[in-house]
Amino acid sequence: MTQIFNAITQKENGARLSGSVIRNGGLVAFPTETVYGLGANGLDGAAVQRIFEVKGRPNDNPLILHVAKKSDVKALWHDIPEKARILMDTFWPGPLTIVYNKSSVVPDEVTAGLPTVAVRMPDHRCALALIREAGVPIAAPSANLSGKPSPTTAEHVKDDLWGKIDVILDGGPCRVGLESTVLSLVGTPAILRPGGVTKEMLEAVIGEVAVANAVLHPLGANEKAASPGMKYKHYAPDAQVIIGMHPNPRAAAGLIAREYDVRESRGERCVIFASKQTEPFYRGRTCVIIGDRKDPSTMCAALFSSLRAYSGKADVILTESLPETDMGLAYMNRLLRAAGFETIEE
Ligand code: TXA
Ligand code: MG
Repeated sequence: MTQIFNAITQKENGARLSGSVIRNGGLVAFPTETVYGLGANGLDGAAVQRIFEVKGRPNDNPLILHVAKKSDVKALWHDIPEKARILMDTFWPGPLTIVYNKSSVVPDEVTAGLPTVAVRMPDHRCALALIREAGVPIAAPSANLSGKPSPTTAEHVKDDLWGKIDVILDGGPCRVGLESTVLSLVGTPAILRPGGVTKEMLEAVIGEVAVANAVLHPLGANEKAASPGMKYKHYAPDAQVIIGMHPNPRAAAGLIAREYDVRESRGERCVIFASKQTEPFYRGRTCVIIGDRKDPSTMCAALFSSLRAYSGKADVILTESLPETDMGLAYMNRLLRAAGFETIEE
């Protein structure tokens, strides 16, 4: 049976009960500033194993440990490199996950056998209260069935995991709307997954940061992913997603409108995810505005919930590319995966 708590009106009760569920090996879905997480005691290998079973997650895809204060990383990493200190002081709590050499207390179930562990401190009162109550680091992937778009509301978590987990803490919609930036500090700093802390923000404090090839490109047959999560099909709604790729939004809209008309004449149910700026180019077609191109974070915040909203309701979702700078990089990383890299170009 799954219990649900309102993280605002039932704050104390919810956190206290959930903390003991975690300590006793159970599973709790909780809100963070990025997406909802599915948490288990990060020091208990058997509890962590349940996360993989419930999500249908491949066993070689490691999890992030969530901590409530910066000093908690001491026990989890082999040591704390200077760049990690600077990054934690600048961006924690916040949507930045740091991958570094693990200590011996971290179970293999968390890291999928890797010698490194990913750690982050979420910027959400409910998540922090839960971790404090639990008294252990919480291992948590996004609280969706593997392959589906990550959940940004408690309703999304219910749709995927109702009856399979012990508790859902409902803290309302997540602010960022897509998952944290994953940065490796093993060797040259490298972004394995872009997110709310951008390359530009990272470079302003630690200098040059590389971006893993898999961020914007499908992995080649013999290529090894720096981050195992990159090799799986991800964020896929039950609809075909197609991206109109063009640096000029008006030209991208032209490609999309043409494809829409072809598909519609074949009897396919189409919807366009537009921006505030491009909506006028789609007149007469089914279209929703998901955000403002001038502020890509608005598009990021709405992407997963929009994909879920039209999953199974449209045959084709058509949408435009954004420039791959600032939050546009995270947006394109998720969108390309949702689309299985299917694009239309001139
Ligand atoms: O915002 C977030 O990060 C959310 C919330 C719940 O905190 N969590 C999340 O977890 O997105 P998940 O499991 O869906 O994504 C974790 C990503 C995966 O791509 C995984 O491969 C990568 O982090 N990762 C975890 N540990 C790693 C490691 N030791 N080395 C390289 N990549 C790692
Ligand atoms: Mg995930």
